[in-house]
Amino acid sequence: MVKTTTAAVAGVLSLCVCVLLAAGVQPAAADAGGYGYGGKKSIEATVREVVEKAIKRRPAVGPALVRLVFHDCWVNGCDGSVLLEKTPYSSSTEKAAVNNIGLDGFDVIDAIKAKLGAAVSCADIVVLAGRDASAILSRGRVTYDVATGRKDGVVSSAAAADAVLPEPTFEFAQLKDNFARKGFTQGELVILSGAHSIGVAHLSSFQDRLNDSTATPIDDQYRAALSADVGRQKMSQNTPNPTEKNNIRDMGAAFQQAAGYDATGVDTSAVGALDNSYYHNNLQNRVLFKSDWVMRTDGDAASDLAEYRDNATKWDVDFSAAMSKLSKLPAEGTHFEIRKSCRCTNQNYY
Ligand code: HEM
Repeated sequence: MVKTTTAAVAGVLSLCVCVLLAAGVQPAAADAGGYGYGGKKSIEATVREVVEKAIKRRPAVGPALVRLVFHDCWVNGCDGSVLLEKTPYSSSTEKAAVNNIGLDGFDVIDAIKAKLGAAVSCADIVVLAGRDASAILSRGRVTYDVATGRKDGVVSSAAAADAVLPEPTFEFAQLKDNFARKGFTQGELVILSGAHSIGVAHLSSFQDRLNDSTATPIDDQYRAALSADVGRQKMSQNTPNPTEKNNIRDMGAAFQQAAGYDATGVDTSAVGALDNSYYHNNLQNRVLFKSDWVMRTDGDAASDLAEYRDNATKWDVDFSAAMSKLSKLPAEGTHFEIRKSCRCTNQNYY
């Protein structure tokens, strides 16, 4: 009798998805469909339109697209490796990494690829879509140019992603070192962490902060309110590992009151906005991750936190510059292509 394992079924499914997607993706004609040779502007317009529609339909995909830029570009450079489900070298791709829990937005990347075909690499789509999501979520305050011309890599490994991506339980020195390895300064670490003003996190990513024995300082009232809400979310999301919103601003008035949140200086009506509210929250010990809190333990980083709390425009400008730098991290591999499907390398011989 042949036993069909879940992994085998998943393998066949992912192969099918790859073949189907590749079949549906037509190379863009030179002058058809509104994008052609040198039609960078039209490529950008196409990406923007798909991202706008996707965020309208499902707001949670916006933060996911911003995070995708970090998780793609940090591992092997910006090469679309985070999108792969199987490669000739590995079936345990970056998507399976523990540090990639909750990654999302792949359907939006596929939808853009289906419109643009061979005109643009998946690596370019990731940085363009993340740029547009940042602009939309910041209500036009985060803006930067993105050059195209990246190629797609063919290597993607869960182990490599777990070795390279920073963890929410990292100490400040580990975070600083992690960023330095990619050519990013301590200042840029503080700036980019402001992206945690949007989106959600799984309980497993901040469980340490709720657990008395390992907790780093977190406001007592916030922790109690969070623990109570986690209990509720376990029921309503029907999972032992539910998600919570990263930003207390987005948690609603009852939660904020229970958590003793002082919203002075925060626009509480700007629910879901990518802005400097993260710095207000962090300086009140009301953020989810230890990796956010530890920035308070360094004198320079702590004064940067205060500066960004007090100067929203400076954060918008500096965050835009840091995202632009992130989007330029060069691909590190030796083998490149323009993929037909963003989920698979072109050689589907596995
Ligand atoms: C400094 C080191 C960082 C650490 C340790 C870290 C860690 C995390 C973790 C654990 C989550 C929640 C994952 C989950 O449980 O589902 C998360 C979410 C998120 N991170 Fe980070 N992150 C870091 C830096 C960044 C950077 C540089 C960016 C953007 C450029 C970013 C953007 C985001 C966004 C937008 C979310 C929410 C995603 C969503 O809702 O889909 N993070 N991060």
